[in-house]
Amino acid sequence: MREQIEAIAREAMEKLENVQDMKSLEEIRVLFLGKKGKLTGILKGMGALSAEERPVIGQLVNEVRKQLEDSITTNKNRLLQKEREERIAKETIDVTMPGTLLSRGRKHPLTQVLDEIKEVFIGMGYEIAEGPEVELDYYNFEALNIPKNHPSRDTQDSFYINENVVLRTQTSPVQIRVMEAKKPPIKIICPGRVYRSDQVDATHSPIFHQVEGLVVDKGVTMGDLIGTLQVFAKSLFGENTIIRLRPHHFPFTEPSAEVDVSCWACGGKGCRVCKNEGWIEILGAGMVHPKVLEVCGIDPKIYSGFAFGLGVERTAMGRFNIDDMRLLYENDMRFLKQF
Ligand code: PHE
Repeated sequence: MREQIEAIAREAMEKLENVQDMKSLEEIRVLFLGKKGKLTGILKGMGALSAEERPVIGQLVNEVRKQLEDSITTNKNRLLQKEREERIAKETIDVTMPGTLLSRGRKHPLTQVLDEIKEVFIGMGYEIAEGPEVELDYYNFEALNIPKNHPSRDTQDSFYINENVVLRTQTSPVQIRVMEAKKPPIKIICPGRVYRSDQVDATHSPIFHQVEGLVVDKGVTMGDLIGTLQVFAKSLFGENTIIRLRPHHFPFTEPSAEVDVSCWACGGKGCRVCKNEGWIEILGAGMVHPKVLEVCGIDPKIYSGFAFGLGVERTAMGRFNIDDMRLLYENDMRFLKQF
């Protein structure tokens, strides 16, 4: 029996010496030390031994078992270490490999122009105000001196949510909200999205952007309005730009004007861009109507103000020489990359 045990020990040690992976190691353990393993089999057969032999053989089996267990542990550690090294070797990063090129984004031309406009007015001490796009009919029309059924509503047909709620057709309702909430001096611009039920073409879109301006204080005059717009036009379209006011009608300003800038392409001589007129219309403006001030609880005998509104799309088209408004909404990178 002693020879048998020694043979088992030799066989096991030999197998352990050559083991290459964890799976085979476990198989070896089961083969010799498992419930039905070879060494376990010896222990089971010890009942047949004599009383003198039993402790001697028992001790031998225990020694061999200890030896095998130790060897299994050593080999297990060796294999774990080997696996780790192999994994690390596989994970090495080749820093010389070419990377994925990330393309750099840029601001949409509308955002660029809006940022420029904001900068000019912030530089003159204006604050930025915002209002809801889904607006009460009262703020979008009535408080701006455009009663229900007034013919001037025709030019600003909108999308009605119900009789009293509309998608705002202009940024002017923000004026009313600000004047209701705050007493003069007021000096704000309100950039934002507006809606009109217009057909899409090269110069129209049912959704577009405006920037509204409002100044209310004691002694504000038309001269202040003209000076302000002149500074604005020069900053956006160049030092040589001049402006021209043409009498107009807006229900919420009196007097009212449409404001043109000298053509940025030809400087006023007349060209294709200005349709040979030398001028390009960019905004509406005027002195805030006394009725509008009154509706907001501001006394028109003490205070006066001016307001103006400009289209961001039209300004961007001028600034970048874009001849079709639709290009601004198509998100075609070949177009947008140019600005
Ligand atoms: N809200 C006017 C429009 O959309 C523009 C405007 C604003 C005119 C402020 C005068 C004063 O046509």
